[in-house]
Amino acid sequence: MTIKDKMRIRLDVNNMFAESIGEEHGIKKERIDQYSDKVREIHKKIQGDKLGFMKLPYQEEELIKELQEMARERSECENFVILGIGGSALGSIALQTALNDPYYNINDQSRGNRPRIFVPDNVDPVRFNSLLETIDIKKTIFNVISKSGGTAETMSQFLIARQKVIEEVGIDNLADHFIATTSADSGYLIEIASKEGFPTFFIPEGVGGRFSVLTPVGLVFAAFAGIDIKELLSGARFMDEICDNDDIWTNPAYLNGLLQYLAYQGGKPLSVMMPYAHSLKDVADWYRQLWAESLGKEVDREGNIINVGPTPIKALGATDQHSQAQLYMEGPYDKVITFLEVEDYGVEVEIPEAYKEIEGVSYLGGHSLNKLIKTEKDATELALTRRNRLNCTIKIPEVNEFTMGQLLYLLELQTAFVGELFNINAFNQPGVELGKHYTYGILGRKGYENKKQEFNNRPQKNNDLIL
Ligand code: PA5
Repeated sequence: MTIKDKMRIRLDVNNMFAESIGEEHGIKKERIDQYSDKVREIHKKIQGDKLGFMKLPYQEEELIKELQEMARERSECENFVILGIGGSALGSIALQTALNDPYYNINDQSRGNRPRIFVPDNVDPVRFNSLLETIDIKKTIFNVISKSGGTAETMSQFLIARQKVIEEVGIDNLADHFIATTSADSGYLIEIASKEGFPTFFIPEGVGGRFSVLTPVGLVFAAFAGIDIKELLSGARFMDEICDNDDIWTNPAYLNGLLQYLAYQGGKPLSVMMPYAHSLKDVADWYRQLWAESLGKEVDREGNIINVGPTPIKALGATDQHSQAQLYMEGPYDKVITFLEVEDYGVEVEIPEAYKEIEGVSYLGGHSLNKLIKTEKDATELALTRRNRLNCTIKIPEVNEFTMGQLLYLLELQTAFVGELFNINAFNQPGVELGKHYTYGILGRKGYENKKQEFNNRPQKNNDLIL
């Protein structure tokens, strides 16, 4: 077995089928076969068009070198802050939580001489202010990330950070503290970056925010945080090769996508991702955005109103066994649970033996936390299956760059494929845009006056209903 095969992530969908879950809720294997022509047609289309994100695993060595060079040149910085929101932030957060020490920012030994990483991903005044008050601005680099180059949250973060940098180091040294990651030829950020002389990285045309983790959006951060970019892309390439295959029964992205789609059509619109590893909890957060923003759509490709979209939910094992699991076990039959299971955690934590006379505690002694969390997962899976609840498992040999590259790519391809099954555009986000446009209008941005007017003319609230 090659190293790649040993590190291959696997999809176990046994508990999605009627044989395991029962006829009432389980999916019949014949249903899958009925889609084989459709799957071949979608495969041809996806591969023919080579969607933007599908080219990312094959990016030039040149870019990787440039990123590493930049991180080396700036290695004296103490803090690396990402200014961005949504797709411009969640991928980096997922990679940081997955691949670096859980206490990276305060663990000097595991961090080595790399900078601390901060991704506020919001404009909460308390949190953002506290960050800027806490870090040494003179030793900080900010990566401003915005594909559109004009998102209000990101540009506000930038304006505040810029002012702070000017106060601390003077306007002449601004370019030492900022990097811009944006579209090459549209938006205001590129205009500002060239005016200020900021080093700039580009988000390739045709790659939307939530599919951009393997562009400089995630890779600039990866270079600063010591994440092995080559291995990450190699994992994504490996999964791309596995999935360049129109046989539904051997293509994990398509098979899982079709099962999720059939579950949705069969009255199960809620899709829970439940990793049994804390390091993967932000992958579930990243996936929640990917799945929701790509598949929640009002119209199909022909413009018919369809209002579709599964609702993603993030959970964490074993923590949420003591929070959400009761609902999953006994509530409505409206969910599919996707477990993420890690085989090797890289560290084994023994539970010491003690209190021999107290059987209810002493049985734990001699086991390990590894065994406990694995058993908790197996037990939850069995309990759900016994209760005829759809569930599947993505098995991850260990959490490293190669397996993360596979996982992120698998989920992206699965999302694009399900978009085709729904016959929607999975790559736009008109609903998000509308909210942005109201914000622009209300804040007085030129060109959005009609949105301000709509806001001013909104129906007045009934005070009796505000208690
Ligand atoms: O996935 C998306 O397209 C969005 O979540 C965007 O990433 C988010 O709205 C931020 O947009 P931008 O990168 O243009 O600032």
